[in-house]
Amino acid sequence: MPSLNDIRSTFLGYFDKNGHRVVDSSPLVPRNDPTLMFANSGMVQFKNLFTGVETRDYKRATTAQKCVRAGGKHNDLDNVGYTARHHTFFEMLGNFSFGDYFKSDAIPFAWELLTREFGIPKERLLVTVYHTDDEAAEIWKKVAGLPDEKIIRIPTNDNFWMMGPTGPCGPCTEIFYDHGDHIWGGPPGSADEDGDRFIEIWNLVFMQFEQFEDGSRKDLPNPSIDTGMGLERIGALLQGKHDNYDTDLMRSLIEASAHATSSDPDGPGKVHHRVIADHLRSTSFLIADGVMPSNEGRGYVLRRIMRRAMRHAHMLGATDPVMHRLVPALVRQMGAAYPELPRAQALIEETLRSEESRFRQTLDRGLRLLDDELAHLPEGADLPGAAAFKLYDTYGFPLDLTQDALREKGRGVDTAGFDTAMAEQKAKARAAWAGSGETKDAAIWFDLAEQHGTTEFLGYDTEEAEGQVLALVRDGASVDAAAEGETVQIVVNQSPFYAESGGQVGDAGLIKTETGAARVTDTKKVAGVFVHIAEVTMGQIQRGQGATLSVDHARRSAIRANHSATHLLHEALRRSLGAHVAQRGSLNAPDRLRFDFSHNQAVSADELAVVESEINDFIRQNSPVETRLMTPDDARAIGAQALFGEKYGDEVRVVSMGSLTDSGKGQVGDTYSIELCGGTHVMRTGDIGACVILGDSASSAGVRRIEALTGQAALDHLRASDTQLAEIGGILKAQAGDVVARVRSLADERKALANEVAQLKRQLAMGGGGGAEAKDIAGIKFIGRRVEGVSGKELGALVDEMKAQLGSGAVLVLSEADGKATVAAGVTADLTARLSAVDLVQAATAALGGKGGGGRPDRAQGGAPGLAAADEAIAAVETLIGGAA
Ligand code: ALA
Repeated sequence: MPSLNDIRSTFLGYFDKNGHRVVDSSPLVPRNDPTLMFANSGMVQFKNLFTGVETRDYKRATTAQKCVRAGGKHNDLDNVGYTARHHTFFEMLGNFSFGDYFKSDAIPFAWELLTREFGIPKERLLVTVYHTDDEAAEIWKKVAGLPDEKIIRIPTNDNFWMMGPTGPCGPCTEIFYDHGDHIWGGPPGSADEDGDRFIEIWNLVFMQFEQFEDGSRKDLPNPSIDTGMGLERIGALLQGKHDNYDTDLMRSLIEASAHATSSDPDGPGKVHHRVIADHLRSTSFLIADGVMPSNEGRGYVLRRIMRRAMRHAHMLGATDPVMHRLVPALVRQMGAAYPELPRAQALIEETLRSEESRFRQTLDRGLRLLDDELAHLPEGADLPGAAAFKLYDTYGFPLDLTQDALREKGRGVDTAGFDTAMAEQKAKARAAWAGSGETKDAAIWFDLAEQHGTTEFLGYDTEEAEGQVLALVRDGASVDAAAEGETVQIVVNQSPFYAESGGQVGDAGLIKTETGAARVTDTKKVAGVFVHIAEVTMGQIQRGQGATLSVDHARRSAIRANHSATHLLHEALRRSLGAHVAQRGSLNAPDRLRFDFSHNQAVSADELAVVESEINDFIRQNSPVETRLMTPDDARAIGAQALFGEKYGDEVRVVSMGSLTDSGKGQVGDTYSIELCGGTHVMRTGDIGACVILGDSASSAGVRRIEALTGQAALDHLRASDTQLAEIGGILKAQAGDVVARVRSLADERKALANEVAQLKRQLAMGGGGGAEAKDIAGIKFIGRRVEGVSGKELGALVDEMKAQLGSGAVLVLSEADGKATVAAGVTADLTARLSAVDLVQAATAALGGKGGGGRPDRAQGGAPGLAAADEAIAAVETLIGGAA
């Protein structure tokens, strides 16, 4: 009996043999379709090949595509577990022709694979065609030899396949399997077609048209083929089962669930095991493709599936988290076909475990509340909306979880009442928010958030994605279009652009639509809505259009490098300076990084050197940068650095990098840096290139600031320093290695010369000797002199020298240097009892038209407005001395 893995390989191998390129499944989050929540069929990744917008080096392809139908238009969530063929996750096998072969090859391929490779008896098979498609009916007759009654013409949309309201479409032919008359049901198109006897196994779509929004249809450039066969269905058939959940793969997951909960896989808990098996697949694959549980968009769909599974595990009596323990079984089954699964295994397990631990804290109480409510209700009545809302709001029960729980009791929920309660809460939140005056055009952003939800950020995984233009805002008002030359704020449903937060600047880049292009210069976030600030550079951008959003890759790469380097810097500082180092602010721009942290004194050059080398050690280690999502408590438990006093939500992103290799710094193998962070980072530390610290300065009291460069900017900085050094060497005529010694000797030389000059100036001022020109004023020797160019600093020494020459007496020197007039006086020690230098200076400054001056009795100094009255000043001092004598 072939396993599901065998069947997948046979399918891909068959088309490979027939000239098809085996292409990997695309991620579950579509990169090229903004209207789709998750990939829901094989053709999604090839949409642009059908319409001719894109060509590749192959025209035939085959895939096993991961599909999720649990949100948006196709939603099978409610039925999973209770039916034989509903899944939230399934694999769609398909073969595709992009303008290569058409009906006359597609039908024989399918027929040969089913009847020869898979060996299905042809009597068991019958087909439908679109009622006008004589050509397909003819081919079936010729190729398969089917009688007319087994080629059923269907006039409805069942046989006209459309991807969605717009896009490639065409008539299709579906192949059915007859399980036999022991099962009730009629052939397609009959009154009993909903029975379980005839099961559709394969849909071949003849892609011929492209449908547009206005309802018109255009022929595709080349008719193409798109087929889809659910692996679980064909698997059940080939394994002789009627129920997809009885196939080997699903059964092994059901048994893992039974084992983990010590219960019977086929006992009363059967439905629970089926739900768990299905949900394990969708949640694990979604997490592997980058979706994280949240309260918005795709993340909320994931959370709803997870919590639904967790309630079913709870129903099986599990008291501890169960889901994460089943991941190894899934990886064993599907890891070889989907290598992203083993790669993300640790992340999947951790995400499931943390979500389940958290949800368990409220699950019991929520279920009790539900029972209490039901006990008060009349038999069979619906649960009031307010109660369902309380379960949602207080206990984290998504509405469909409550509905699922009530389904077992044969009851429903008053969903209108639930919606009313939800709307009331939103109105309250809005009032509170609008009142906080966050921005002056707050109302418009809040309206947008309410109308369209918050913007989904895709930029952790991709720098280019498609989105839908939900709104254009100019000067605080919503507009329908913006034309070339206009500056406008663009809002889309999902965006790869990072909106400024946590110190990381907003992304720049390009937004293009069918009719125009805009250059985005910055991205900000208001009320969860991403605001792309842009200038229209070509044509016009219109509300409602599909848009391609491309982030400026070089700029973003530089920002990533700076942000990751900031984490390394933070950790290196903490380890070098002490645990008191905590982040106080940061900037991660494309050209530099800045990090403010608590520390009381300047960081010395030696400390900076140690920190810089440590950062560069971890850059060269080139270890992967890992991102996980967990509760703030779990994050703190593993030692994540968080901003003190910051409010964190239910879950936080934890970014870790570096692995310790030096036992002197801690346990070898331990993670070096672990931080809570919502920013974008490099893939591996080596991507940072290099880090150069520019220096440390004071930011505010007790806070230091370090600025640094990475990558090319670091290199440019080093090169510029080197060029400067070479230039200095050139001037000094010294080799780079000798420059410091030369500069030092120049500085020493300069100091010696300066001393010599001062000395000479003094000698000059003394006029070559003093005693001779000293006056005798009633027995006291006095020299009063005006000099030029001796600064106030040098005047004291000059006065002392003159005093020494006099032996006993008084001196007064008036000097003008650098536009400043200074007066200094000196009295030898033997005379200070009678005469104070301070008085002499004050008399002189007064005569010069100034005031003041001070010092000691033996030496004093003061400034003067000028020396125009120098003679008068000297005379005034002489008079004073005369009086004292
Ligand atoms: N795209 C087609 C389907 O999903 C094959 O059924």
